[in-house]
Amino acid sequence: MTSQTKSEKDRVVIFDTTLRDGEQCPGATMTHEEKLEVAALLDEMGVDVIEAGFPIASEGDFAAVNEIARRAKNSVICGLSRASPKDIDRCAEAIKPAKRKRIHTFLSTSPVHMKYKLMKEPHEVYEMVIGQVTRARSHTDDVEWSAEDGTRTEHDFLCRCVEAAIKAGAGTINLPDTVGYSYPTEYADMFRDILHNVEGADRIILSTHCHNDLGLAVANSLAGVEGGARQVEVAINGIGERAGNAALEEIVMALKVRGDALPYHTGVETQHITRASRYVSAITGFPVQFNKAIVGKNAFAHESGIHQDGMLKDRGTYEIMSPETVGQGASNLVMGKHAGRAGFREKLRTLGYELGQNALNEAFQRFKDLADKKKHVFDDDIVALVDDALASGADRIQVKNLRVIAGTEGPQEAFLTVTIDGEEKSANATGDGPVDAVFNAIHKVAPHEAILRLFQVHAVTEGTDAQAQVSVRLEEDGRIATGQAADTDTLTASAKAYINALNNLTARKEKTDPGAIASGF
Ligand code: KIV
Ligand code: ZN
Repeated sequence: MTSQTKSEKDRVVIFDTTLRDGEQCPGATMTHEEKLEVAALLDEMGVDVIEAGFPIASEGDFAAVNEIARRAKNSVICGLSRASPKDIDRCAEAIKPAKRKRIHTFLSTSPVHMKYKLMKEPHEVYEMVIGQVTRARSHTDDVEWSAEDGTRTEHDFLCRCVEAAIKAGAGTINLPDTVGYSYPTEYADMFRDILHNVEGADRIILSTHCHNDLGLAVANSLAGVEGGARQVEVAINGIGERAGNAALEEIVMALKVRGDALPYHTGVETQHITRASRYVSAITGFPVQFNKAIVGKNAFAHESGIHQDGMLKDRGTYEIMSPETVGQGASNLVMGKHAGRAGFREKLRTLGYELGQNALNEAFQRFKDLADKKKHVFDDDIVALVDDALASGADRIQVKNLRVIAGTEGPQEAFLTVTIDGEEKSANATGDGPVDAVFNAIHKVAPHEAILRLFQVHAVTEGTDAQAQVSVRLEEDGRIATGQAADTDTLTASAKAYINALNNLTARKEKTDPGAIASGF
């Protein structure tokens, strides 16, 4: 059971749900390989618990949780389950290979959820709480129970359910603000109240899980800690249902920077934060707003003359933390095209990549190609090209060749050659602009019904020779898939990102059984 000794009472457990609450929000779907990469980043970063998915939801979810469980080095690997024995058993099966494993089982306790969603009476829900925790404990010692819609639950009933869950063996009790309705002082009081009134609450870990519907997720989570919670549920970039969850980077840095006001600490190695944020943004296609705290492009930019003057005299005038603390240091010039393989491998290692021999060879070749085209190759370029290779490496359809006629005199036309399972196929198409022409050509070589939902381009670094990082989101029959690619040629990156999304959509169709997960318990 992950319970703390009194000497650790000021440590806050970081429970990351990017791969579960984050991934389940519309458009944020990730491929199997992307989920493994996110989990590896979180594990390396020192996240205590990784909620890797909802194993009963689909074969794909099960496979991802199972593989993450096999690979995790330090983090506890957690799966989510509803209250039914089938859900819980499937979750237990998925997390089995993990060195440290947790079952997170939840049930709604608010009047509105019990009446309309569960269609159960409170006494039935109460019995189900005992049943689900007992069942989960038969599989593992580390069980978390969540009172879904906890903040809108009637006080006495919440206390009874929490007490029952603790007696049945839950080591962590999570009290979510499922609909993002709570206010910081109320949320803090709820934890104080539970600690004061529920027998056994001081021997387990209380947890926050806050949604951001009123923009209060981080404030509420920190208030929860002040009220006695010692686990905070978060997601990278704050992704999650609707307006999202509390952002990992904001919680961790608030606790680090304001130790004087909040005397609690986490085990997160904060220099990994920016890389994780950029990776999650690239694979989901969810941009990080420029002025986003901690990870936004402008989070450490000082534009006005007065600020710049102050910064030159003493950084402390306008900086409460250094960009390096969160891995947002100036992007380093890497090496020129004469760099050797050993130096390149060492650079990858410092950027957090441990690649196998084949992947290393491929990344090195891509680096050489890039260094031929681009005067200065920066760390961010290397990250983009390796992430790109990881994203598209196993794709059935690959771009082989692209030539585009663009400019003021139409029509714009694209000539495209791809390989599909190794076999070459070519087509040309015109369009309303060069990007449209490229996408129309893709339609001809790989006919499909998917609708383009997002097309987004970012420059990886500064300068006109910067790589373009493109994200594309496609939707077909309610299934959504995102693709990404980077290239110094924006149109090539666009073609590759579209094709990567198409490959991911096909993989998703093969793996997902959308009927498997119905609402309810
Ligand atoms: O928001 C919520 O209540 C949840 C639970 C499943 C913990 O995500
Ligand atoms: Zn949630």
